[in-house]
Amino acid sequence: MTVRTEPSRASAGVIRLLAGWRKTGRAADLREHLAKHGPMPLRGSGPPSPLTRIVADAGLTGRGGAGFPTGTKMRAVAERRGPAVVVGNGMEGEPASEKDQVLLSLAPHLVLDGLMLAADAVGAAQAYLCLPDNRPWLARAMLAALDERERAGTDPLPVQVHTLPHRYVSSEETALVNWLSGGDAKPLGSSPRPAERGVGKKPTLIDNVETLAHLALIARYGPAWFRRAGHADAPGTMLVTISGEVAAPGVYEIELGTLIGDVLALASPVGPIGGLLVGGYFGTWLDPRMAVDLPVTPQALRNAGASIGAGVLVVLPASACPLHEMARVLAYLAADSAGQCGPCTFGLPAIAGDFAELATGRSRGAALQRLERRLEVIAGRGACRLPDGAVRLASSALSTFTADVHAHVRHQPCQAVRYGGPARGVLPIPRPQAQERWQ
Ligand SMILES: Cc1cc2nc3c(=O)[nH]c(=O)nc-3n(C[C@H](O)[C@H](O)[C@H](O)COP(=O)(O)O)c2cc1C
Ligand code: SF4
Repeated sequence: MTVRTEPSRASAGVIRLLAGWRKTGRAADLREHLAKHGPMPLRGSGPPSPLTRIVADAGLTGRGGAGFPTGTKMRAVAERRGPAVVVGNGMEGEPASEKDQVLLSLAPHLVLDGLMLAADAVGAAQAYLCLPDNRPWLARAMLAALDERERAGTDPLPVQVHTLPHRYVSSEETALVNWLSGGDAKPLGSSPRPAERGVGKKPTLIDNVETLAHLALIARYGPAWFRRAGHADAPGTMLVTISGEVAAPGVYEIELGTLIGDVLALASPVGPIGGLLVGGYFGTWLDPRMAVDLPVTPQALRNAGASIGAGVLVVLPASACPLHEMARVLAYLAADSAGQCGPCTFGLPAIAGDFAELATGRSRGAALQRLERRLEVIAGRGACRLPDGAVRLASSALSTFTADVHAHVRHQPCQAVRYGGPARGVLPIPRPQAQERWQ
């Protein structure tokens, strides 16, 4: 885990979430945190709370992947009758992301402030923080931070820390609802949104931990301050994790609207680049020559068929075979799905197999035709968005790496071979669990 906090052209010195530990290089304790940011502006009046409007005016959007407006979600929960529930999502299911663990390890109080302020604004009587069970140090750090807060009497509500099985889909919001209501950490499929019926059937606000940390700053410094960084259509800063063929992989804080080329420059790409994965395994492959001029805004990336998701950028070396990488990633997604629906049980292993066959170069186009047919059939069929994400990723691989696909089909050397490859196993794949465990 590496945190990069050097002022740079891309962040232009606007470092907010990382500011607490920038000077000391370690986690801010409660005293240091309060000395820097002051006390939480809790109102204690419950909904309707001005904080909901303040967050909406700031233009804060979720940093967990979907980028939904946070103020709208808060309003939806606050408008429901009865006590609500708030949940901080610190699961970080995306294998190429490290930003949530960095934030939680180094600015725990900013996240907990956000959780308390959100609870206060929506009238919550219960607050939960969900963490992955494969990073036990995170739960320890957060329990220690909560201990400090209990002694100082800062929080109006106790926070229950839960550690959940770390699977790609166990961090999806309905999987958290399922788990916190006493079930498995599996997505609930086409159930009502958590804002309507969440944990214990109560209206539930689920926010990514980075979203909560931004919320804690907006509550103190206001929407105009938040909008001073970033782009008019995408205000503020965000944490990104840059990995792959770069000299300085790690977590960086950037302003939204920064060009992808400038963001990548922070991590110093080192070699010839084969492709750029934007948004992680729920994301899109882009041609790096085109991607460098794109600003990190939802609109610009949507126009290019992409999304920054949870802030993941992976630089694929030109010596890696993208088809082999896709076969690995899709096999991992298939194995880590909840296996509850046809597209995950049958579709994902099948397209992983098609990519593997294409990668070997033994198929004379049959695998490609099968793959294209399957991608059409799988889309839109799952109970959750996992198969759709996998299909988008696979389709973007076919369109970005067309030359490699055709080289494989024609038994000609692909780009990876020309660059001394193929290098094997570049994209991170979590180790398979010893046994299937959802409880
Ligand atoms: C398969 C899948 C995995 C997800 N994993 C995460 C995750 O690890 N962390 C996270 O915050 N959101 C994750 N999400 C998004 C959550 O469902 C939810 O939208 C998010 O926690 C809401 O927080 P936000 O509005 O602050 O982004 C995932 C969604 C899907 C479909
Ligand atoms: S689509 Fe896949 S991951 Fe989603 S609920 Fe169905 S089996 Fe589970």
